[in-house]
Amino acid sequence: MQQTVDHWEQILLRYPHDALVVRLTNFMHFYTNGGAAMRQSSSRVIGAWDEDRPDFGYMLGVHAFSLEEAGDYEAAEAVGKRAVEINDKDIWATHAVTHVFEMQGRHDEGVAWLDRLSPKWEGLNNFRFHTWWHKALFHLENGEFDVVLAHYDQQFWVAPSDDYLDFSNAAAMLWRLEYQGVDIGDRWSGLADVAERHAQDAVLAFADAHFIMALAKDGRVEAQNTMLESLARAALSDGDQARVTARVALPLCRATIALCQGRAGEAADILLPLRDHVWRLGGSHAQRDVWAQMLCRALLDGERFADAHALLTQRAAAKANSPLTQAWLAEAEAGL
Ligand SMILES: [Fe+2]
Repeated sequence: MQQTVDHWEQILLRYPHDALVVRLTNFMHFYTNGGAAMRQSSSRVIGAWDEDRPDFGYMLGVHAFSLEEAGDYEAAEAVGKRAVEINDKDIWATHAVTHVFEMQGRHDEGVAWLDRLSPKWEGLNNFRFHTWWHKALFHLENGEFDVVLAHYDQQFWVAPSDDYLDFSNAAAMLWRLEYQGVDIGDRWSGLADVAERHAQDAVLAFADAHFIMALAKDGRVEAQNTMLESLARAALSDGDQARVTARVALPLCRATIALCQGRAGEAADILLPLRDHVWRLGGSHAQRDVWAQMLCRALLDGERFADAHALLTQRAAAKANSPLTQAWLAEAEAGL
């Protein structure tokens, strides 16, 4: 993946108007090098574009999401909104602005934004599922769990899907719902059926770290062990995903299993030193937050209240109006 994105960057130095390469480069940085690399690339490329070029709006969408992942929320919102002004069906730009609302805890604005734009998504591909997932995240933070489950069943996991993004939407949402004390019925079982088919993929560490959630939650011990063995083999091979699997995905999978088997202290021991390396998996800050939540919960359940308190204070500083963070912070304080 790194070599591929290096080649694409070479192409873009000479051909910054190759919209397909711009988009693929951005996608690959997203799963390899993170927000800073995305912003560096898209900032250079966007300078070669102007309003008169077809696809300019789509390039703004790419740039907006890069700015957001690099933490430049104000600029991301402005650039993303301009792209949506140009084309209100541009779901990538819509999604970039949605991320700003998510990161800043502007849940009601996020819901209003997506309520206005979701009618435009008819005929678009499965990326609309991921954007519905974001809307469900806002409702989750607002405690509207019935709406979240309705979105799960009717918008972003209508039918079982083998697409890794569809799957990660569903798995991460069930995991978060359970942290809110919501009865999610037998939904893990449907996901575990899909995950079993991917137990030996070892293609994208980000996906693997989601597949294991369903296997562990649904008690598919055989498939879970098959997956751990497959990942251990993959970790010994060459390439960036092998390194990420060794450094991040395998420990995350082991921590996930430990949590599901009631060994919170063990999970906390694995997750605590890993917390500043999880970004190497790729994916967005919003997506990776499921592992940040996992660590905080493992510390609380392992009765390591001082560590939990410190991390939850950090979490509250980054996003003040999260009821979950406040509830867990109170739990840590009570424990102390
Ligand atoms: Fe997203």
